[in-house]
Formats: sequence, structure tokens, C-alpha cells
Amino acid sequence: MSSSNALLEFMKVCQNRAETALEARLPGENRMPEKLHQAMRYSALGGGKRLRPLLTYATGQALGISLDLLDGPAAAVEMVHVYSLIHDDLPAMDDDDLRRGKPTCHVAFDEATAILAGDGLQALAFHVLSQDHTINVPAQNRIAMIESLATASGSLGMVGGQAIDLHSVGKTLDLPGLENMHIRKTGALIRCSVNLAALAMTPIDAVLADRLDHYAKCIGLSFQVKDDILDEESDTQTLGKTQGKDRDNNKPTYPALLGLAGAKQKALELHEAALDSLSGFGSEADLLRDLSLYIIERQH
Ligand code: IPE
Ligand code: IPE
Ligand code: MG
Ligand code: MG
Ligand code: MG
Repeated sequence: MSSSNALLEFMKVCQNRAETALEARLPGENRMPEKLHQAMRYSALGGGKRLRPLLTYATGQALGISLDLLDGPAAAVEMVHVYSLIHDDLPAMDDDDLRRGKPTCHVAFDEATAILAGDGLQALAFHVLSQDHTINVPAQNRIAMIESLATASGSLGMVGGQAIDLHSVGKTLDLPGLENMHIRKTGALIRCSVNLAALAMTPIDAVLADRLDHYAKCIGLSFQVKDDILDEESDTQTLGKTQGKDRDNNKPTYPALLGLAGAKQKALELHEAALDSLSGFGSEADLLRDLSLYIIERQH
């Protein structure tokens, strides 16, 4: 692993920051209905790489935006991500019993509670974006943030990608079909994580925002390509989720279509395209550059 010390340090700071931001915004475990709030907290707190908040904060660094403005957007995008994981693991979807090194939400609680915990996290994300007082930006920026997360989460984004994923089981997607699915199911939220920080700029610089959006598209796809590679060649303990699940479930993946070497080559090409998108930035975007490399080199 060749992550820079600057990135490792920043990751630690932002992971703590994201944990605190989530903790502060989630209802307490003794708040009625207790079981539901316990399930939401069980899945959202104390685990995960927090890559989406990291991207929001690192984009903020590239744009000179105070991290204090970004705790709300970082927490909101992570809430939608956690909701997507809870539902992804359900028996009707990927039927997984391990997530972030612990039993999945429906195993630790029950299926109905897991469905509702996902629903609750999704609604809370939009509540945070719409009213959190730390998001100190003009109303039109705030509305644009809500729109960005709604588009990324919905049937044209993550949920749409998940639908394509489930309908494609046992089928061979061609490369454009596979890319389309990945861009939606994983890429959309990653792209949104970067956009949310760009939307905290006042006034928004459309040229910079566009470059960052292109960067985010590239890493959104490389992230899922690497996820597919890890599912093939890592192990359950390192991943904190069941290895080999895609093959067992007959999922269309990059390694299935291109082979492992082809998938790795694709990830590298996407990393290079991500770096190209940042060529107009100086050292203020180094964390974003390092994050792109981390995404394709990570071990879990
Ligand atoms: C896993 O996401 C699901 C995908 C979208 C591929 P992450 O690998 O970011 O999971 P956590 O948040 O670190 O657990
Ligand atoms: C999940 O893709 C994408 C979302 C959760 C939206 P995967 O099904 O590959 O994710 P893992 O491998 O279970 O984390
Ligand atoms: Mg899945
Ligand atoms: Mg899955
Ligand atoms: Mg996977």
C-alpha cells in the first residue's frame, strides 16, 4: 500500500470527524422506537472506510472550503450509503450476513427492522441537508445539495443501479451495460460526495465544479471495479464482508467480463483519467489525487 502519509493522516482525521458528525445527528438509542434507532446506529456508527465523507472533505480542501461547513453533507451522504448497504445485504437482495466485520443489520436485528432502519437513514439524510444549521450556505446552494443527493440516490442513480444489478443476475452484460450499472449503483453517490462540497462554494465556480465532477465520475467507476476485484481475490476477514459473493450469486462483474488482469488495467486507466481531470489544480488537490490511487490499491 503506497498511500501518502498526508492521506493517511487526513483519513484518520476525517474518519473521526464523520463518526462525530453522524453520532451528533442520529437519534439516541433510547429514543422511541428504540429498536429502530438502535439498528440505525448499529449500522451507521463505528465502521466503514468513510470514503464518501472523505471525498467531501478532500474536495473541500481542494476548494479552500472550511471543513466545518461540510459535516452535514458528509454525514448525509454516508447515511444514504449505509442505508444502501443495509438493503443490499437483505435476503431479497445479496443475502449477506457479514458487513463491516459484524453481522448485517437484518441478522443482528430482524428483516423488517433492517428495512425500516434503511428507510429511516435515508429520510434523515435529507432532513440533515435541508435544516442542519452548520451548512451555512445560501438557500439556493442548499437546495442544489438536496437535489444532488436525491438524483444520486434515486431510480436514475443508486437505486436504479441496484435494480439493474439484480435483474442482471445470471446474464452476461456487455461492457457498456456493466459500466452503466456500476456508474449508477456506486458511482452516483461517490460523484455526489464530491459535488456536495463543490456546492458549498459561494459563488460556485462552474469550471472547477465541472473538473471535479469529471474526476468523481472516474473514481466512482474505479471504486466499483476494485470492489469487484476484491470480491474475487481478497478474503472475508480482510474485507469484513463475505468474499466470493459475486461469483456465488452469479453477478456480472468486471473480473467476470474482462478477467482479473483486464479489470486491474481498467482501474488503472480510470485512475489516470481521474488525475487528468485534476490537471488544472495545484497541490491543494493532492489529497484527491492520493484518494484516487488509494481507491484502486486498497485491500478492503
Ligand atoms: C461497499 O462500499 C459497497 C459498494 C458501493 C461497493 P464501501 O467499500 O465504501 O463500504 P464501507 O463504507 O467501507 O463499509
Ligand atoms: C453494492 O454493490 C452497491 C450498493 C450498496 C449500492 P455490492 O453488492 O458489490 O456491494 P458489497 O460488495 O456487498 O459491499
Ligand atoms: Mg449488491
Ligand atoms: Mg452486496
Ligand atoms: Mg461487491
